[in-house]
Amino acid sequence: MAHMYTPWFFFVQLLILVAESRAKVPALIVFGDSTVDAGNNNQISTVLKSNFVPYGRDFAGGRPTGRFSNGRIPPDFISEAFGLKPTVPAYLDPNYNISDFATGVNFASAGTGYDNQTSDVLSVIPLWKELEYYKEYQKKLRAYLGEEKANEILSESLYLMSLGTNDFLENYYIFSGRPSQYTVRQYEDFLVGIAGNFIKEIYSLGARKVSLGGLPPMGCLPLERTTNFFGGSECIERYNNVAMEFNGKLNTLVGKLNKQLPGIKVVLSNPYSILLQIIRKPSSYGKPPLN
Ligand SMILES: *[C@@H]1O[C@H](CO)[C@@H](O)[C@H](O)[C@H]1NC(C)=O
Ligand SMILES: *[C@@H]1O[C@H](CO)[C@@H](O)[C@H](O)[C@H]1NC(C)=O
Repeated sequence: MAHMYTPWFFFVQLLILVAESRAKVPALIVFGDSTVDAGNNNQISTVLKSNFVPYGRDFAGGRPTGRFSNGRIPPDFISEAFGLKPTVPAYLDPNYNISDFATGVNFASAGTGYDNQTSDVLSVIPLWKELEYYKEYQKKLRAYLGEEKANEILSESLYLMSLGTNDFLENYYIFSGRPSQYTVRQYEDFLVGIAGNFIKEIYSLGARKVSLGGLPPMGCLPLERTTNFFGGSECIERYNNVAMEFNGKLNTLVGKLNKQLPGIKVVLSNPYSILLQIIRKPSSYGKPPLN
């Protein structure tokens, strides 16, 4: 259920964009699922955790942190690339406080999705609740730094959103609820609507630089291939096609939001093609690990 790929490649596009504009980014503010969760699920009551080995074996100190990865995850690399700290802490982690979060904060929760029903599956943090935590964070930041400085950070920060795979793989294609209400195309539209509302909401709260993550070739994720008994453990094309179609709709959304919301800069970080290349020809991207 936990989708354990953690590519940072899909942010390269974004890095180039921001580097070109020489924009200053005082903090990274992260929303999403296991692709970007830095340990929030450690603090909640869910079975979906990664606080055990071999998770974290390549992390500083070789310890599992609640990241669904052998090491760091995309927001960590991006933070470092902006000259900020090398890891972005989880908002719910009691080892950190507002002085840490002032330069980067992570609200992500593995297993979540755009759809409230997706986060219900494994009792993880729904996206609306991530937003509530963000509002609480704003209050703490203003109390800590004062209105003016806090507002500057909130408007200059880079907001990362990375989610959506679980809505399809953990919800739509597993349970009968959503398919009885929506065709897959209608479900895509439902999710894109939620994504758009979310971005409008954070815009109204001050966000101006947003990276919206697209879907990976989700039919190629290890769990999907392992369970593709009749397809010789190949990628499930149907799922990949949905991912591509969904990314197309997100791209349209991004175009609309950039027109509608003055001063916003939204980019789609689309991981699809680069990940598919890596899956098809891993030898071009380094030697595979032995274990
Ligand atoms: C945050 O934690 C650090 C280290 O534990 C402490 O020195 C600092 O006073 C705390 N800051 C706030 C604003 O609570
Ligand atoms: C998800 O749940 C929250 C809290 O109950 C609610 O405010 C929101 O409207 C729901 N979202 C959708 C799309 O139904």
